[in-house]
Amino acid sequence: MTKKRVLSGMRPTGRLHLGHYFGALKNYVAIQDTHECFFMVADWHALTSDYADTSNIRENVIDMVIDWLSVGIDPKKAVIFRQSEVPQHSELFLILSMITPLGWLQRCPTYKEQLKEIQNKDLNNYGFLGYPVLMASDILLYKANEVPVGEDQLAHLEFSREITRRFNNFYGDVLVEPQALLTKTARVPGLDKRKMSKSYGNSILLAETDEDIAKKVKTMYTDPLRIKATDPGHPDGCVVFAFHEIFNKDAQTRKQECINGCVGCVKCKKELTEMICEFSRPILKKRQELANDKKYVEDILKEGSVKAEQVASQTMKEIREAVKL
Ligand code: TRP
Repeated sequence: MTKKRVLSGMRPTGRLHLGHYFGALKNYVAIQDTHECFFMVADWHALTSDYADTSNIRENVIDMVIDWLSVGIDPKKAVIFRQSEVPQHSELFLILSMITPLGWLQRCPTYKEQLKEIQNKDLNNYGFLGYPVLMASDILLYKANEVPVGEDQLAHLEFSREITRRFNNFYGDVLVEPQALLTKTARVPGLDKRKMSKSYGNSILLAETDEDIAKKVKTMYTDPLRIKATDPGHPDGCVVFAFHEIFNKDAQTRKQECINGCVGCVKCKKELTEMICEFSRPILKKRQELANDKKYVEDILKEGSVKAEQVASQTMKEIREAVKL
């Protein structure tokens, strides 16, 4: 049986944190063995909002790919590539933009939300409105059957499906309608209980030193109602416990111990620190090796982009043919 094809991408935001790992990256690692995978660094997507200052973009691409490799994404199993090295993405973006009704973009919930939420950047640009068109191009060029995405990307995926139907209606059955691959993911809170996010400054990186992990865990919010370790605790809503649920196989026991006042917050944090360190140490080691060999990382991207372009150029040929260009 031939494997289903998957395409997914992330914007290059530099070094990744635990939220990225448990929210998406862990799935990437798992599906490498079961699917034909294309994992893309979406650097053009980064430009849609960060066009005014691109000074870090190249470094952010490399840093993100180093993290991918450090957790076990394997260039022998998956095609790892950089969007801007495969020009067909921009060509399909152009063609799809011709058949994209403006209303579809203006009504997109992520668009409306980000326009409202993000105040420190001017997002009144054409490229930002067209974000879903570019994302659809990424997916459709590879005729991907499945796209592993988080819930926040579902509206974009729906757009891809609708634009596929519209294209095929006009020009014949060329493009493949992609399905969302919604896998089980864990929502990782930040140190301050909000969503873990680089811009909130509340994150623990994937590859972090023991000392930094210890420092960060210490700053996690603890139960103000607990004066003594023997006071009953409240694990529901506690950040430390939320992390135990991710890292501690015996989180249920810990929950009871906390409720019964059998374990204090200091000890609970110490144990958590050790568990996160154990998870992070091999990743940090791998990252340090790779960080000394950026050429190796660049080469992986180059080779991946050549492989990606082979598929993309074939699809583009069919598209030009169908549109009668
Ligand atoms: N929009 C995605 C995000 O912000 C990144 C992305 C770009 C993507 N192109 C894609 C994801 C294609 C899946 C498929 O996370």
